[in-house]
Amino acid sequence: MTTTRPRSSRPRRSTFRCSSCGAGAPVWAGRCTGCDEWNTLVEERTSSVTRSVGAPATPARPIAEVTDQDVAPMPTGVAELDRVLGGGLVPGSVTLVGGEPGIGKSTLLLQTASAMAGSGRPALYLTAEESAPQVRGRAQRLGALADQLWLAADTALPDVLAHLDAVQPAVMVVDSIQTVHDPELASAPGAVGQVRECAQRLVTEARARGVAVVLVGHVTKDGGLAGPRVLEHLVDTVLSFEGDRHHALRLLRAVKHRFGGTGELGVFEMSDAGLVGVEDPSALFLADRRTGEAGSVVIPVLDGGRPLLVEVQALLAPTTIPTPRRQGQGVESSRLGMLLAVLDQRVGVSAANLDVWVTVAGGVRATEPAADLGVALAVVSAMTGVPVPGDLVACGEVGLAGELRQVGRIDRRLAEAARLGFRRVLVPTTAPEPPAGCQAIRARGLREAIAAVGLDRHG
Ligand code: TYD
Ligand code: MG
Repeated sequence: MTTTRPRSSRPRRSTFRCSSCGAGAPVWAGRCTGCDEWNTLVEERTSSVTRSVGAPATPARPIAEVTDQDVAPMPTGVAELDRVLGGGLVPGSVTLVGGEPGIGKSTLLLQTASAMAGSGRPALYLTAEESAPQVRGRAQRLGALADQLWLAADTALPDVLAHLDAVQPAVMVVDSIQTVHDPELASAPGAVGQVRECAQRLVTEARARGVAVVLVGHVTKDGGLAGPRVLEHLVDTVLSFEGDRHHALRLLRAVKHRFGGTGELGVFEMSDAGLVGVEDPSALFLADRRTGEAGSVVIPVLDGGRPLLVEVQALLAPTTIPTPRRQGQGVESSRLGMLLAVLDQRVGVSAANLDVWVTVAGGVRATEPAADLGVALAVVSAMTGVPVPGDLVACGEVGLAGELRQVGRIDRRLAEAARLGFRRVLVPTTAPEPPAGCQAIRARGLREAIAAVGLDRHG
């Protein structure tokens, strides 16, 4: 491996950056102090032009006189995306969409670009991972062949900018930012320095041209965006596209959003015709539920600001190993362990010799404490074989003393339960009145809650 040690005659203004971890260094060194990797420091291109002090290009204005016209979002036409973005893509903004390979990022953005092109906003789709004919084939299958949708398969930054000049789009999708490279930079495509510099340049161009730029970003196995975190600082909006690959369900969230809140959740289903927005996710999650089965409880979770009703299922089986399994899917195994300890110590229900599996149906995550009561009831129901009533929704945090605690935004959760026709809600004593048609069953602790739904009959 050759080193990239620069000559000593370089201007002192240069700085160096590690192409592995992204740490900066004022002078070149053989080894990065950030990650201890060897030969990873590369020189950064920094402008040595100093501007003389004079009249600013854009003078400061009183804040009340700044118009908000520039930041009015353009609806994309993909309703669930617009919901997450709070209206649509803002001209001149840069949005990073992260997600695991195969989750549907390209599909989502092709559909988005096509929908925008269809409404008279020229859209440029830059594909670097798939060839142009491949993307065309997909667009045809998706019914996304809009007149004003332009396709190019170049990855060099100058080409990207040339396409921007030629097409003058309202929106440009770059799929993916990791494959764009600037030939003027020494580092290889995909290296941290390249990704960061190219993203920075695209941010500048987006601002200057008023184009909404959407960058696709790969995520690493641990869920972080590949490349330095600084990529997230550069852009205006970071969206995360998630889902269980074995399920058709896809969830879109804003992790960062300069033009609005990050509270909204977009829900899609991957179908043969691409991604389809799910208007009523609770109904979808509950579609496969079989009432009258022991070990199943419906809980209202809040994802972003959106209440969702999901089914929690528990299964218990005699263990064959010294340390019984406690496995949660959609719930945290450590939280499950805590709830089992509370059941054991405070309620006298022991799963000591049993393997315990708890899953949240549909690939949804119910990691908030509000799910505690539902998880505990599902376990007890599975143990006693007594089903929880099918028209009941359970919601509450369980404390270490076995007490039930209030949860955030319970009114929204109960409203969702009432909307889907649930007649009873099992809640902490302090919970507000549920909507009309819904009866509250109040319990101070887990023991009372178990008795209130008749799970102690065989216990
Ligand atoms: P893709 O958008 O290529 O994912 P990413 O860009 O995040 O890597 O989507 C890949 C998966 O989506 C692929 O496994 C097939 C599936 N898919 C469908 O089920 N229906 C469709 O209409 C399309 C286009 C893809
Ligand atoms: Mg892709």
